[in-house]
Amino acid sequence: MTDLVQSKVENHVLTLTLNRPDKRNALTFAMYQKLADAITAANTNPEIRCVLLHGAGDSFTSGNDLVDFMGLSQGARPFDENLEVMQMMQAILLLEKPFVVAVHGDAVGIGSTLLFHADVIIGTPSAKFNLAFTQLGLAPEFASSMRLADIVGIARARHILMLSEAFSGEQAFEWGIVTQFVAEDALMTAAEKACQKLVNLPARSLRDTKRLLRQGSGHADINAMIKAESEVWAAALKSPEFMEAAMAFMQKRKPDFLQFD
Ligand code: COA
Repeated sequence: MTDLVQSKVENHVLTLTLNRPDKRNALTFAMYQKLADAITAANTNPEIRCVLLHGAGDSFTSGNDLVDFMGLSQGARPFDENLEVMQMMQAILLLEKPFVVAVHGDAVGIGSTLLFHADVIIGTPSAKFNLAFTQLGLAPEFASSMRLADIVGIARARHILMLSEAFSGEQAFEWGIVTQFVAEDALMTAAEKACQKLVNLPARSLRDTKRLLRQGSGHADINAMIKAESEVWAAALKSPEFMEAAMAFMQKRKPDFLQFD
């Protein structure tokens, strides 16, 4: 079976490639687990000095695999900290090494959310971001309600999150979500260049800087926000609105939310 998350270490960089292009790199439980394990192991592996995440094919990622999430919706498993997506996000939040993300094509849901916890985010003209939570009967996750407002301002965050409004790579760069904007064919070269620069900087200095930046931007509040958002998600995933949204996507039709109060 194809490896849906490819992983390689070269020149002190751990490169993680989402490799499910036929499904726009939608993230399954197994893919989250592999990412969580690889990022956690990178934290203590002295050979690795930087982590790079990107997607194969036309997209970065279309977010959570909706088939897996329909299973959760029906109570197959509890929505708690053991869930692979929680483990992956915790691994990212605990990563002390530089985390670089290269984004092209669709970056939906968690594909946008995780950027708020990355250090260097390189985007291209094809990048399209969508924190499409209300469109799915869900709500923001992993402190995106807080982090997005920190970056783009509360008014714009309201607009984006309430309307599930998609925005382009260029827009994301103007707003400061993407930290470097490059031509389509320059994405991986730019990402690798950033990684090599980070590899050659003093690792202790980068660890200290990352820790202080987290402290300065309310890391303690982030954990409280994540908990509050997770509680909303646990209920929202079981809602008829989410089931309608997921079924509509599978059946390639528009959802009808007017049937719900
Ligand atoms: N979960 C499961 N399957 C997904 C998926 C997801 N999140 N996103 C895409 N796919 C599948 C589609 O069902 C389709 O499968 P099929 O070829 O067997 O029919 C395939 O990937 C290609 O998707 P398609 O919608 O045809 O591609 P597109 O380029 O026209 O659109 C997206 C790309 C990302 C805009 C669109 O697929 C989409 O909106 N996906 C859902 C995003 C989402 O709601 N994520 C959850 C966030 S919490």
